Amino acid sequence: MMNKKKICVLGMGYVGLPLSVALSNYYEVFGYDYNNERISQLQKGFDKNRIITEDDLLSQSINFTSKEDCIQNSNIVIVTVPTPVNSDNTPDVSYLEKASRTIGQQFSYIKKRSFRPIVLFESTTFPGCTEEICVPIIEEFSNLKCGEGFDIGYSPERTNFGDNNHNLESIVKVIAAQNKSVLNEIAEVYSKIIKAGVYIAPSIKIAEAAKVIENIQRDINISLMNELLIIFDRLNIDTNQVLKVAETKWNFVPFKPGLVGGHCIPVDPYYLTYIAEKKGYKSKIILSGRQINDQMYEFIVKKVEELSENLLDFPGNKSDINILVLGLAFKKNVTDTRNSQVIKLVRGLTDIGYKVEVEDPLVNVNEIYSYQLNIRNKDKVNYDIVILAVDHDIFINQGYESIKNLISDTGILIDLNSTFYDYDHKNESILYWSP
Ligand SMILES: NC(=O)c1ccc[n+]([C@@H]2O[C@H](COP(=O)([O-])OP(=O)(O)OC[C@H]3O[C@@H](n4cnc5c(N)ncnc54)[C@H](O)[C@@H]3O)[C@@H](O)[C@H]2O)c1
Repeated sequence: MMNKKKICVLGMGYVGLPLSVALSNYYEVFGYDYNNERISQLQKGFDKNRIITEDDLLSQSINFTSKEDCIQNSNIVIVTVPTPVNSDNTPDVSYLEKASRTIGQQFSYIKKRSFRPIVLFESTTFPGCTEEICVPIIEEFSNLKCGEGFDIGYSPERTNFGDNNHNLESIVKVIAAQNKSVLNEIAEVYSKIIKAGVYIAPSIKIAEAAKVIENIQRDINISLMNELLIIFDRLNIDTNQVLKVAETKWNFVPFKPGLVGGHCIPVDPYYLTYIAEKKGYKSKIILSGRQINDQMYEFIVKKVEELSENLLDFPGNKSDINILVLGLAFKKNVTDTRNSQVIKLVRGLTDIGYKVEVEDPLVNVNEIYSYQLNIRNKDKVNYDIVILAVDHDIFINQGYESIKNLISDTGILIDLNSTFYDYDHKNESILYWSP
């Protein structure tokens, strides 16, 4: 019997873990992460991100490890480390650099191999990063030349976590490499786990660029809707109605206004604008879209102030107003709160005096260190304002009435995703508002 190929997935996060699980049906997989706690949780069958269930974790064959020596004899090392931004919004490629150093060091310990390992990057980054930043580090630390001692490839992750219709196996996997035989090898691996098939990009740089613009396009489209919302609000026009009318035209693209968060869309645009600036071009559209989306929570804070005038006998006191915010994750049905605008919204409201409580059954609120949040007392009702900030199924399935039951008779429901917009709100005692 032929030995199975060894694949090391470096980084057991949102991207690396499900990929490892899928690959483990066909290959000998090492799930390597330098975070010991994460590894020991995974060994016990616990994924804090709640992407993989306990049963699925315990029934697979991945070797979870925090020892980097599993890299040494792996045929393929797949890198899925974070690519965030620094406080000045420049790309933080330190995770990619560290991973490249580790790989290079581990490769250097093997003096002779019967195969040429492939290092395959999945992290989102700017065009040129893989070949111009990561490869030289691997070469330096391994003492090997790319294309001679090891090969390189790139395959961006495009999964939309929390959305069962767009998961690992159902999204076309873009692959790129420096030569055809590497491409064939990568294609063979991904073809096993991805039903939608692979698409070969002409080069690594093109694949990097394509990934980053997918998220930029989404960011810009949402920012346009957000700007329209701000304008129509001043004109006293219902944005939802405007969009419904406009969408009857065949080529009107149906985007909605909203709070943009997460580790990808608010971050990736800065990767491209950074490299553009290095080449002497200062972005106009991409950065202005970012600016609008980044400040959208402030618009909601102002809207709450404006609407809550209905509740107060002026001059009233904001500290008499109890607000419940439902949902903290950056989008529906995920546990992830990275760059969540809802947390900024809570802070904005609290800073100007409102009493704000939060509830999100998918999120471990105590683990959010960026801001001290007040968790809802389970049985408390009669809130003056409820903000349905994230349309998790777990909230929506409770039904409109049960959300309304949390609000005092003359209170306000702010439905940020327009989930209940189409309901008849005319005869309600509460005030309903959605963007
Ligand atoms: N999460 C998504 O929905 C998504 C979707 C598409 C693309 N991406 C991209 O994929 C990449 C990974 O994102 P993620 O959400 O999985 O990140 P994550 O933070 O969930 O996971 C990264 C993991 O890598 C580990 N790690 C970091 N450096 C390491 C090193 N040198 N050695 C070993 N382990 C290391 C961390 O401990 C962590 O567990 C990013 O570039 C992101 O932009 C993510």
